[in-house]
Amino acid sequence: MVEILRSLLFVPANDEKKLAKAGDRNADALLLDLEDSVLPSQKTSAREMCCDFLQTSQTQSKIWVRINSLDSPYCLDDLKAVIPLQPAGIMLPKPDGPVDVETLSKLIQNLEGKNKLVKGGIKILPIATETARAVLSLPLYARVYLPRLLGLSWGAEDLATDLGATTKHDENGNLAFTYQMVRSHMLLSAKAAGVQAIDALYEDFRDSTGLRNRATAAFSEGFTGMLAIHPAQVEIINQSFSPTNSQIEHAEAVVRAFAENPNAGAVSVDGKMTDIPHFKQALNVLSVSKKIAN
Ligand code: COA
Ligand code: MG
Repeated sequence: MVEILRSLLFVPANDEKKLAKAGDRNADALLLDLEDSVLPSQKTSAREMCCDFLQTSQTQSKIWVRINSLDSPYCLDDLKAVIPLQPAGIMLPKPDGPVDVETLSKLIQNLEGKNKLVKGGIKILPIATETARAVLSLPLYARVYLPRLLGLSWGAEDLATDLGATTKHDENGNLAFTYQMVRSHMLLSAKAAGVQAIDALYEDFRDSTGLRNRATAAFSEGFTGMLAIHPAQVEIINQSFSPTNSQIEHAEAVVRAFAENPNAGAVSVDGKMTDIPHFKQALNVLSVSKKIAN
């Protein structure tokens, strides 16, 4: 069973202090970053520190690595260094679509073979919206066979750069229409592909109320998890992306009502009409709560 990753905490791989405590933060996954939080002059040392962490960390969190993009001069060296150490997965920045995920998958497969590792264990999570081309390719994730694909995640910042935009916000400070549309498309594409849907990070890491509101809304829309940049965000995200006790109790009551009325297409639960779509939602809530890491 593939566990749901509710919180994925970015940790710059060249930051000794942040690495030292990252494992204790209760994140479902750590994303050791070799890409944008690491300057070109530090790529080599960041890669070494990342490998050291993979070899020595005792953390309960899954360890993922965000490599540099496929068209960068660092990508192959990143993969050659980290794949032998079997991270749980690789986050791929700036793919132009599922074709790039296939390319990455082949590179990983090759290195798994060379290092005599079990094939297929290392998953892939693309940031699936960082270029205009990538956005237009989102529906293809549902049509291409990508067994390593754990989920889709998205981000607005690099897309804004690709679009030549001056800001990603509208006049009220909300995400502009283009980015809201992209976010919804990513959600739909992840669901169509049958993989996890991971929301973008919330930049204002001191605003815990704002984060909780965003994360709770995202969970109720169908997102399964969210990227984090600061340890203070992890617990809020974990809570927000877990079904509440009352949601679980209600789901159990719905399942029970259908079990007790095997010939009914609609039943009454707590005085409300409950039919097959509610039954499927209830099964989904129970399945999510089972797949949560702890
Ligand atoms: N992972 C692990 N530890 C982190 C962390 C992270 N992402 N962000 C902060 N911390 C640690 C700090 O080292 C500090 O530890 P201490 O209590 O032992 O001193 C503690 O959490 C509190 O940090 P704080 O002072 O509130 O924040 P900061 O100013 O040190 O860092 C950021 C702020 C945004 C620079 C930092 O959170 C960060 O680097 N985030 C990730 C950036 C990243 O990876 N970006 C790429 C993806 S977009
Ligand atoms: Mg980026």
